[in-house]
Amino acid sequence: MALRNIVKKGDECLNKKCRDVTEFNGRLHKLLDDMRDTLIDSNGVGLAAPQVGILRRVVLVMDTNNDDEIIELINPEIIDTDGEQEGPEGCLSVPGVWGIVKRPWWVKVKAQDRNGEWFEVEGDGLTGRCFCHEIDHLSGVLFDSRAERLLTAEEIQAMSAEEEEYEDYEEE
Ligand code: NI
Repeated sequence: MALRNIVKKGDECLNKKCRDVTEFNGRLHKLLDDMRDTLIDSNGVGLAAPQVGILRRVVLVMDTNNDDEIIELINPEIIDTDGEQEGPEGCLSVPGVWGIVKRPWWVKVKAQDRNGEWFEVEGDGLTGRCFCHEIDHLSGVLFDSRAERLLTAEEIQAMSAEEEEYEDYEEE
């Protein structure tokens, strides 16, 4: 298991446009494996390569509708969307900050897998939101620049209390 350091807002990596992946080699696979370990270790639902300092079009999205399977997306593009959702969003690179962000409800993405094969994948709810958030990272866009407003400390506290209650319930 190899963890990579997650860069935080203020690091210039997070504001740059990433380049396409052109070589589907062992180096890419190592990056993907490390990003997977880092995502699981940090309890996130998605991670983009610029967040570990690599300016390439690579993201991971945890499909929370599907047993938390981690989807690897290389050179991803959003090709279709439907509906709308508005809700709280955060980012591992912007710790302690949550904002209300409007996203499509359903999102369809075209991407390459770790061997360069093109495929399509779709998701709704949190997974749809996550596709948008992670692909934004590849253009140097952070969620807080899209937020209608940021949550107050009280609202964040209430949200995490609710989450803990839910986790307690799950453990019973
Ligand atoms: Ni993020």
